[in-house]
Order: sequence, then C-alpha cells, then structure tokens
Amino acid sequence: MGNAVHAFFSQWDIYRLCIEHNTLFHREVGEILRREMQARSEPFTFLDLACGDADLTASALRGSAVRAYTGVDFSAPALALAAEGVAALGCPRTLHETDFAGFLRDNNGTFGVVYLGLSLHHLDTAAKRETMRHLRRATAADGTFYLFEPILHGGESREGYVARWAAAMDGPYDPFPADAREALLEHVAESERPESPEDYLALAREAGFHHGEVLFTDPGSFYSLFRFSA
Ligand SMILES: C[S@@+](CC[C@H](N)C(=O)[O-])C[C@H]1O[C@@H](n2cnc3c(N)ncnc32)[C@H](O)[C@@H]1O
Repeated sequence: MGNAVHAFFSQWDIYRLCIEHNTLFHREVGEILRREMQARSEPFTFLDLACGDADLTASALRGSAVRAYTGVDFSAPALALAAEGVAALGCPRTLHETDFAGFLRDNNGTFGVVYLGLSLHHLDTAAKRETMRHLRRATAADGTFYLFEPILHGGESREGYVARWAAAMDGPYDPFPADAREALLEHVAESERPESPEDYLALAREAGFHHGEVLFTDPGSFYSLFRFSA
C-alpha cells in the first residue's frame, strides 16, 4: 500500500487541486492551526510529518515564535515545494525524504509541536497504534500533537466511508478534470483506512496522551482536527 500512496502523491498537482478548491478543509484547519501557533509566546520546535508542500503549516507558522522546523515526507516533488514554503520562516529548517512512521521509530528527539496531516489513515489499526506511541515519545512533556484525519461515523465500515465519500464528490469536485476525480476516488478506495473520532481519542489515550479533543469537524463529518497533550 505504501507504494500506491507514494505514487499517488508524486502527482502533486492532483492534491494541489484539493487545496485550491478547499475540498479537504485546509482553509478552516489552517486558520485554527495559525491561531494555535500565534498564541504560543515561548519559542518552540515544530515537527511536520507527511508535510507535503507545507503550505498549511508554513502559513500557520509565519510570524510565530517557531525556532526550528523539521519536515518529513517521502514525496520528492512535495518536499521541493516545502523547501520554498518554509524558507520564509527565518529559522533553521530540516527536511527528511523518508517514511514518517520509520522516522518516528528511529527518532529520539522531542518537539514542542507535532503536526500530522491527512496521512496516518494510510496505516492499518495496529500500525496506527504503534505510530501513536512514537508520536507520544516525539511530543515534549509540555508539548502538543495535532492530528488531522478523515473519520468514520460511529459503526461505519471502511466500505461505507468510501461510498459516503464517493456520493459527496458531486459539487465540491465538479471543477476537477475527470481523470483527477477518478484518481482521487481510487486513492480513497484503495489506500484510506479512517477510524472514528472515538477510536483516535482512545488510541491516543493508550499511547499516553491524557488530554485529547476535537477542534474541528467539517459539516459533512469527513475530516476532524484533533489536539492531544500529555
Ligand atoms: C494528503 S497529503 C497531506 C499534506 C499535508 N500534511 C496537509 O495536511 O495538507 C499527504 C502527504 O503525506 C505524504 N505521505 C503519505 N504517507 C507517507 C508516509 N508513510 N511517509 C511519508 N510521507 C507520507 C505524501 O507524500 C503527501 O505529501
């Protein structure tokens, strides 16, 4: 499955259409993250996992007290864009072209803020559980972990989620070329493994994040932004 996800995100222009047409609610999530980052008065380090082009995070961090940025993604085209996006932050920046789960497994550092956006759902539940433990290790004792992911409704199956997602394409995805719509649906059907918000909160609690809450859910209940801390 990792290869399929990698191939999909190497066609960065399709994902870019989602950002431009706000079909994944980047605008709303970016604004919440921006408020959260601007509210931090003490300098902090930021770990951006599956950073993509870092569009959302670079905008949220601009003008904040961020003192070092680390981005991780296995897509070279996305990282090339991220390098440009975070250049304006005016703090040291490190970009790693690698798998975020492997990065977390090997990582022994801690970060004041960790953000993982729209990527944990590619893993199965056992791998999510293991990754959540490493996410807890990577988050400083007084730090915060933000997770933005697609969500299942209570009792909904993966197949039910895919059908719900496909049914909601008409409208938001109308401006997309037909081949981009097809590629997106194939990606969702083959590579997405969402969990319910309750399951994400439970996985995080098990991993040692004792505080967890949902900061945002879109009107159709397809995506939620979570905030976790120890
Ligand atoms: C849906 S985009 C999300 C980008 C950004 N985090 C956001 O919230 O807009 C997914 C990104 O995660 C990357 N990605 C997916 N799975 C990954 C993995 N296992 N390791 C590293 N990067 C991954 C893809 O290359 C892509 O850039």
